[in-house]
Amino acid sequence: MLPAYVANGAPVVVVRMVGHPHPLDLGRSWHGRRLLGDGKTAEGLVSGLAAGILAALSIALIAPSTYRGFEEAFLLVVGAILGDLAGSFVKRRLGYPRGKSAPVLDQLGFIIAALAAASVLYGPPGWITPLSLAAVLLLTAALHLGTNVLAYLLKIKDRWY
Ligand code: CTP
Ligand code: MG
Repeated sequence: MLPAYVANGAPVVVVRMVGHPHPLDLGRSWHGRRLLGDGKTAEGLVSGLAAGILAALSIALIAPSTYRGFEEAFLLVVGAILGDLAGSFVKRRLGYPRGKSAPVLDQLGFIIAALAAASVLYGPPGWITPLSLAAVLLLTAALHLGTNVLAYLLKIKDRWY
């Protein structure tokens, strides 16, 4: 799952270093609410994609048998990014302002989307069982919370969740 985590985490760090990031929805609204909001930017998209691909390439080099092909790792990255964007789209439709916590959707939406995308070519990975899937989701939620608290302590994020 590492490429998905990296794709999801990189924008938080990279976008901070950009002066004026460019919102992907170009500031447009739909039925009075932003399409995606200021938390989804072009810089975030590109850095997430690049960092995720770099992670996937590294794993392909270090442990080539991890994936059933590089395209599987690439789909993890694409799925994580699309899942994150879809999550923001849903949050805006529900009236949640940018950055407001949406438990479960925030922590697990991107990872479920990543796994679904990575299963498109060769079906679900062999390691997936109800128990291992539950473990991945639980660990992801814990990791998400842990990295958010760390980013908050490092003053990279202004909320701990
Ligand atoms: N980010 C970005 N572009 C992306 C994804 C993330 O610029 N495609 C950056 C933004 O600075 C964002 C931060 O990473 O604030 C954290 O991402 P996330 O928690 O997904 O965004 P939120 O600000 O919480 O916005 P939303 O309510 O839409 O989830
Ligand atoms: Mg958030």
